[in-house]
Amino acid sequence: MKDQQATTTTPAVSRRQFLKTSSLAAATAAAAVSFPAVVRAQARPTLNAVIIGIGGRGGGAGNDFLEAAKIVGVEARIVAVADIFPDQARRGHQHFGLPEDKCFSGFDAYLKALEQPGVNYAILAAPPGFRPAHFKACVERGVHVFMEKPVAVDGPGCRIMYAAGEEAQRKGLKVAAGTQRRHQASYIETIKRIWDGAIGDITALRAYWVNGGPIWHRGDRGNTDLEKQIHNWYHYIWLCGDHIVEQHVHNIDVCNWIMKDHPIRAWGMGARQQLGDKSGEIWDNFAVEFEYRNGVRMHSYCGQIKRSWASVSEAVVGTRGTADPAGLIRPAGDKPIRVRPEGRNPYVQEHVDLIEAIVKGTELNETKNVTDSTLTAIMGREAAYSGAAVQWDDILNSNFKYGPELVYTDCSKMTWGPFRTLKPPMPGIHDIFKNPPSVPTV
Ligand SMILES: NC(=O)c1ccc[n+]([C@@H]2O[C@H](COP(=O)([O-])OP(=O)(O)OC[C@H]3O[C@@H](n4cnc5c(N)ncnc54)[C@H](O)[C@@H]3O)[C@@H](O)[C@H]2O)c1
Repeated sequence: MKDQQATTTTPAVSRRQFLKTSSLAAATAAAAVSFPAVVRAQARPTLNAVIIGIGGRGGGAGNDFLEAAKIVGVEARIVAVADIFPDQARRGHQHFGLPEDKCFSGFDAYLKALEQPGVNYAILAAPPGFRPAHFKACVERGVHVFMEKPVAVDGPGCRIMYAAGEEAQRKGLKVAAGTQRRHQASYIETIKRIWDGAIGDITALRAYWVNGGPIWHRGDRGNTDLEKQIHNWYHYIWLCGDHIVEQHVHNIDVCNWIMKDHPIRAWGMGARQQLGDKSGEIWDNFAVEFEYRNGVRMHSYCGQIKRSWASVSEAVVGTRGTADPAGLIRPAGDKPIRVRPEGRNPYVQEHVDLIEAIVKGTELNETKNVTDSTLTAIMGREAAYSGAAVQWDDILNSNFKYGPELVYTDCSKMTWGPFRTLKPPMPGIHDIFKNPPSVPTV
C-alpha cells in the first residue's frame, strides 16, 4: 500500500492494529463478520459491501471495513467484487472467500457488483480516472460509499463528483474518503489546537511528499494499448492525475483542512527528469505555490526522484509559533509540545466513522472536502505543466477532459480498442485552455 509512507505519529496500538488488519495478505478468509444476539436486537442494518477495484488498496480497505464493522458491532460482509481484469477480480475469491460468480470483471463489472441484492456499502479503489463514474453509479443506486483519494483527474471529473456528492446529501447517503489523516487522532487534536490559537494566526503552510523514489512500473503487459495503460495506470494522466494529484493530495488536503478553504490560484514548476524513456506521460517532480483567498500561501513539493532526501509531512507557520499537524506544536520561545492522543489505525477509523454515521444517521459526507483537495492538486499540476499562473475558477469550469468521453458519460461501455498516448506536458506549450492536447478516444 504505497500511500502508507508518512511521517505520522500514529500511536503504537494503532500501528499494531494496522499491521494486523490492513494487509491483504493477512486477510481473513471469511468475508463476513457476525454479531448475532445484541446487535440484531437493536435492528441495525446488515452491511453488504462491494469492492470496486480490488488491487492493493481495495483488498486492504476490505479488511479495514470488516474490522471496523466488528468494532461498531454491525453485521457486515463483502458480497461481490469488481475489477477490470479477471485475475484481479479473482482476488475476491482468494482473499474474501467469495464464490467466483460474485467476482465480476470487465468495464461494466462495477454495475454487475452494484446490482447484487442488498448492496448498501461500496469501497471504491479503482484508478482515480474512473472514480467519478463509479461514485455516481453508487449514488444513483442509493449506496453508502467509502472512496479512495483522489477522486478525479480534471475539472470535468471534479464537477461530476461535486454534483454526485450533493445528490448523496439529498438522499441521506454517507460518504467517507481515503484522506485518512482526517480520521487520525493526532492530526485531529493538533489541528484543533491550531484553530484554538496555539501558534497564533496562520501566515504560511508547507506540504511535502518528497521523495517516494521512482514509481512502480508493471512492465509491458496486455494486448491492446488501453490494456497496457490500465495495467500501468499511474503513468497516464487520464487514469492517475500525476503524482501531485495521486499521492500529494494527502498533504494538500491537510493544508486545506487547516485553512477551512481551498486555494484560489497557483503557479509552479516541475519536470519529467528521471522517468526518461519509460512509457507514460507523468512528471516526477513538482514545486508549486498556492494562494488562499486570505493571502496565505502554501508551498507544495512532491517528487519521485532516486536517492534524495525524503519527507512526507506538513508544516504550519503562525504568528506565535509553528506546528507539524501530525502531532507537534512549537510555541515561539517555549518548549515543543507533542500531541499524542490515543487513537485507532486511521485506515480502520475511517470505516468506523462511516459505519457509525450509517447506523446512527449522523452527518458524514466527505465528497466536497476530497474533491476540493483533488481540484487543488489538479490546479497545481496544470500550473506546473503550463508554466502559467492558474486560477481555481478556470480549472473548476474547464472543459478539457484528459480521458476519453465515455469515462465521463458511461465507462461501462468502454471497449479494449486502440488508444493514444499524450506526450509528457511541456511548459510553454501545454495549455488546456488555449492549446488543448488531443486526447485518447475509444
Ligand atoms: N489512502 C491511501 O493511503 C491509499 C493507499 C494506496 C492507494 N490508494 C488509492 O487507491 C486507489 C487504488 O490504488 P492501488 O494502489 O490499490 O492500485 P492497484 O493498481 O493495486 O489497484 C487498482 C485496481 O483497480 C483495477 N481497475 C482498473 N480499472 C478499473 C475499472 N475501470 N473498474 C474496476 N477496477 C479497475 C485494477 O485492475 C487494479 O486491480 C488509488 O486511487 C490510490 O490513490 C490510497
